[in-house]
Amino acid sequence: MEIKIPVHIAIIMDGNGRWAKRQGMPRIMGHYRGAEVAEEITKACIDLGVRYLTLFAFSTENWKRPKEEVNLLFDLLRNYLTSKREDLNRLGVRLRFIGRRDRIDPDLRDLMTDLEQETSKNNRITVILAVDYGGRDDIIRAVNRALREGLLDLDEETFSKFLDLAGVPDPDLLIRTAGERRVSNFLLWNLAYTELYFTDVCWPDFTKEELLRAIEDFSRRKRKFGRVLDE
Ligand code: IPE
Ligand code: IPE
Ligand code: MG
Repeated sequence: MEIKIPVHIAIIMDGNGRWAKRQGMPRIMGHYRGAEVAEEITKACIDLGVRYLTLFAFSTENWKRPKEEVNLLFDLLRNYLTSKREDLNRLGVRLRFIGRRDRIDPDLRDLMTDLEQETSKNNRITVILAVDYGGRDDIIRAVNRALREGLLDLDEETFSKFLDLAGVPDPDLLIRTAGERRVSNFLLWNLAYTELYFTDVCWPDFTKEELLRAIEDFSRRKRKFGRVLDE
């Protein structure tokens, strides 16, 4: 079978809490391990030639979690971004963030902007971290931006330029770990024709082999985009 490498893979990294609980550890330990896995999967994607990797790190709904968990998640992100700065450049990772910025601590917000600028010339892979991201929020912000620019008659192409993933091809493959089969307000607009792949493996146990299994499955899909395929 011919293996088709998706240009853009999006991942809902789920199951950190359950994974930790299963080992009798606090939920945050699952998030620590999850961050390491995100790094390993980024490297695997670079090796495979994936061009865009979008990772759902924190949703607009995740603010409803206990304050301690929310704080620890943002501490983890801050520490990770600080300590991985050089690695990102060495690996050729261009880092981008999608989601709201207005509810994020100013120091972290500045770090995010700095890293986007600092890595903007890297071109082996673009890693897009979705932080305080919601698909509906993305669409509403886009509508408001378009209105503010005085645009009253939009088509799909013009509208999509206002979305957070402007200029990025739609995901070819969406992976969700930990057995849940829902989109949970991830990229609602951009997933219109994305192939969906679900696995029961929790994110902290996700490996390059699991990634390859998902890509193999993707390679067998017949993408039709509404057309009739000539058999
Ligand atoms: C995904 O793992 C990470 C985030 C949502 C930040 P969860 O924390 O949702 O883990 P479960 O689903 O509770 O096991
Ligand atoms: C989706 O996972 C968000 C992230 C992975 C960041 P959740 O664990 O928050 O989703 P639900 O609550 O199970 O739908
Ligand atoms: Mg979850």
